[in-house]
Amino acid sequence: MFPVFSFLLAQLILAAPTCSRVTPPLKPNALSHSSNGTSTASWYAGWHSSDFTLQDVSWSKYSSVIYAFAVPTPVANIIGFQNDSDKALLPQFVQTAHANNVHALLSIGGWTGSRYFSSAVATDANRTAFAQAVMKLVSTYNLDGIEFDWEYPNRQGIGCNTISTNDSANFLSFLQTLRSQDGARDMIVSAAVSVKPFVGSDGNPMTDVSEFAKVLNYIEVMNYDVWGPWSDSVGPNAPLDDSCAPSSDQEGSAISAVKAWSTAGFPANQIILGVASYGHSFHVSNDSASQQPAGDKWDDTAAGVDECGNPKVTGGIFDFWGLIDSGFLTTNGTAASGVDYTFDNCSQTPFVYNPKSQVMVSYDDATSFAAKGEYIRDAGLAGFAMWEAGSDSDDILLDAIRDRCRLL
Ligand SMILES: *[C@@H]1O[C@H](CO)[C@@H](O)[C@H](O)[C@H]1NC(C)=O
Ligand SMILES: *[C@@H]1O[C@H](CO)[C@@H](O)[C@H](O)[C@H]1NC(C)=O
Ligand SMILES: *[C@@H]1O[C@H](CO)[C@@H](O)[C@H](O)[C@H]1NC(C)=O
Ligand SMILES: *[C@@H]1O[C@H](CO)[C@@H](O)[C@H](O)[C@H]1NC(C)=O
Ligand SMILES: *[C@@H]1O[C@H](CO)[C@@H](O)[C@H](O)[C@H]1NC(C)=O
Ligand SMILES: *[C@@H]1O[C@H](CO)[C@@H](O)[C@H](O)[C@H]1NC(C)=O
Ligand SMILES: *[C@@H]1O[C@H](CO)[C@@H](O)[C@H](O)[C@H]1NC(C)=O
Repeated sequence: MFPVFSFLLAQLILAAPTCSRVTPPLKPNALSHSSNGTSTASWYAGWHSSDFTLQDVSWSKYSSVIYAFAVPTPVANIIGFQNDSDKALLPQFVQTAHANNVHALLSIGGWTGSRYFSSAVATDANRTAFAQAVMKLVSTYNLDGIEFDWEYPNRQGIGCNTISTNDSANFLSFLQTLRSQDGARDMIVSAAVSVKPFVGSDGNPMTDVSEFAKVLNYIEVMNYDVWGPWSDSVGPNAPLDDSCAPSSDQEGSAISAVKAWSTAGFPANQIILGVASYGHSFHVSNDSASQQPAGDKWDDTAAGVDECGNPKVTGGIFDFWGLIDSGFLTTNGTAASGVDYTFDNCSQTPFVYNPKSQVMVSYDDATSFAAKGEYIRDAGLAGFAMWEAGSDSDDILLDAIRDRCRLL
């Protein structure tokens, strides 16, 4: 029998007309070759480049690839890199992207790299210094754009970020300052955001983010890590829907996030859906002494300390290929024999369970990626961005989402 998890099942029916055609604002998308303005993107993690090289990227299937990460530093006019090797690889990344007629974007920030955003945008002088530093990166590396991955304005992320009640207002002022720099109107500027709109000075999600839509080409909604080891029960990593779940389990979903952002004035055709090519594992057994299961070889281990100086813990993340490597899935991405599979009709995501190891994983497969592709098309979103390019296996996920959205 499949163990019970708290996310209740309900039915979601997706309509299926044709793929919407979206013209991106601001940027005439000069390099866009095959997507008719719809963004097909993924993030490329520099620190995985020895396992997943630039040559391993399926460039022809993307309109943009976003390099992770550059990071704000305590000094507003200096933007650093997470790792010297990430910096060293960036020129080759841009060159390879351009050789394949793909936009090369650089992401600034990330979960571990959001400590100093708040001070970098805190004052006029800092905003100007930070904007100039961004423009310098753009020209030095010949980038087509920048993504700001601030996790999060006026909301704590990793635990030791500087935050201020003015963060969101300052971020907007900064983006306006950035757009006023020479050459900045022609580049792509986007922000990776949470499933809820930016937090305002009152501590609540802003009810009007329309000014952001005038200076950002896109937001990438990070619709993943919605449930994970920090949750008090098993739930979907990347739910498409949650309106069918009990209200206490409505932690966010693609549909509710798009609704929240668009109700706050961010147009759907500037929203890119962030999709996950990995899953979170949970120990599911009758005894309560449960330990976070280890994920695959890219998973964080409980060794050393994080950016805040706190001990690292086992992450429990399985990349899609890691689920295959670890015997949950066959090489074609279906459940292996001896592994229980269920597809949750509410979140429209699969779960696998290995009764021997008592490990359950909430993840995405070709079926859930196809459902997300249909949703992107039907809701008229700007496209998708997959975290991360190297987590897929044989393009099983990438092909499924592109196929449904007819992004050929
Ligand atoms: C882009 O749109 C045009 C006009 O609708 C269409 O003829 C063309 O096939 C599309 N290209 C792709 C790659 O989908
Ligand atoms: C930097 O990147 C290299 C190569 O990807 C990796 O081996 C190393 O662990 C990274 N160092 C840090 C501090 O992230
Ligand atoms: C502005 O940036 C400087 C470093 O460049 C920093 O020391 C200062 O604290 C920042 N200002 C604010 C108000 O955060
Ligand atoms: C926020 O901005 C207002 C107006 O610019 C300023 O008076 C206030 O001191 C700022 N608050 C913080 C916490 O920086
Ligand atoms: C958990 O409990 C159920 C019902 O009591 C039992 O059938 C099952 O074998 C138990 N599973 C494990 C792994 O102990
Ligand atoms: C996937 O692989 C399994 C086991 O190897 C096989 O039974 C199944 O038919 C395959 N499914 C597809 C769609 O190829
Ligand atoms: C899930 O949805 C499918 C198709 O809509 C339906 O056939 C199936 O019975 C549903 N399963 C559950 C458990 O609700």
